[in-house]
Amino acid sequence: MAEAQLHDFPSLFSLDGKVAVVTGGSRGLGLNAASALLQAGAAKVFISSRKASACTSACAALNALPNLRPGAVAIPVPADSATLEGVRDLLAQVSKHTGHVDILLANAGATWGEGFDTHPDSAFAKVMDLNVRGVFNLIREFAPLLQKRASVEEPSRVVITSSVAGLGVGTLGKQGTYGYSASKAAVLHLGRNLAVELGPRGITVNSICPGFFPSKMSNGLLEMAGGLEGMGKANPMRRLGRGEDIAGVVVYLTSRAGAHVNGAAIEIDGGALWQRGQLDVKL
Ligand SMILES: NC(=O)c1ccc[n+]([C@@H]2O[C@H](COP(=O)([O-])OP(=O)(O)OC[C@H]3O[C@@H](n4cnc5c(N)ncnc54)[C@H](OP(=O)(O)O)[C@@H]3O)[C@@H](O)[C@H]2O)c1
Repeated sequence: MAEAQLHDFPSLFSLDGKVAVVTGGSRGLGLNAASALLQAGAAKVFISSRKASACTSACAALNALPNLRPGAVAIPVPADSATLEGVRDLLAQVSKHTGHVDILLANAGATWGEGFDTHPDSAFAKVMDLNVRGVFNLIREFAPLLQKRASVEEPSRVVITSSVAGLGVGTLGKQGTYGYSASKAAVLHLGRNLAVELGPRGITVNSICPGFFPSKMSNGLLEMAGGLEGMGKANPMRRLGRGEDIAGVVVYLTSRAGAHVNGAAIEIDGGALWQRGQLDVKL
């Protein structure tokens, strides 16, 4: 029967030969994702963050992975994705190595925790600039490179790192993350708009919404909320997120397996979003 004959299942999740750019790729979730892209077969993965030394160390760790495709390489491209000049600088650096990009992970993000009454305008602006405006600038500036090899059969991919804080209410009170939560909701909706705008150009745009993953960004909040163990136990799946949880969803969305998924937001939080009322902090 025709339905039993899938096109080519063994290569469904392969990223063989793909070229990817990961912002915020020097550590945390971005580094998890970059590692997954390379191990799924990507040929070139550009690692970007503000600190050049952090990008170089991340690339050294990635290039030392034992199971990369022959010739596969991680390349450091330090840049500040919160500013238009920074995004253009990133594009210029990437363009020195490649004439096209297949996968763009708009992952760099920042947060700010402070009570409502004193929550600073400057902090709100800084978070919005990186988490929303920077993502729009990044996608717009990279669209020509993403379009170069994009087709109906093999669309290019954009994956935005949003958060479950963009779906439910974020952290309130003393460490309120009002700007962060608003930025993650904004960028999710930006993703849906761009999915419809860029789909006809052969580019899918999807978002991932992680729950709590231990990282430099989340460790302070995790501590406040009772530490790794307590937060893990409070999750419906009885643990926090880990690298493989990001890896699986990112490879799904960027491989042929995810070619017809567009404008989606995938929660990676063990189901904690649906018990948010019971928790004090949310990232
Ligand atoms: N960890 C969680 O629990 C969690 C949950 C939901 C969503 N997220 C989201 O996941 C993404 C990654 O967070 P993470 O937890 O992995 O945090 P992280 O460990 O603090 O990593 C943040 C990354 O972004 C880079 N970065 C920060 N500002 C930048 C800028 N202006 N331009 C370019 N790069 C910049 C950092 O490097 P430099 O300092 O060198 O620039 C670093 O590589 C963020 O969008 C975050 O909101 C995280």
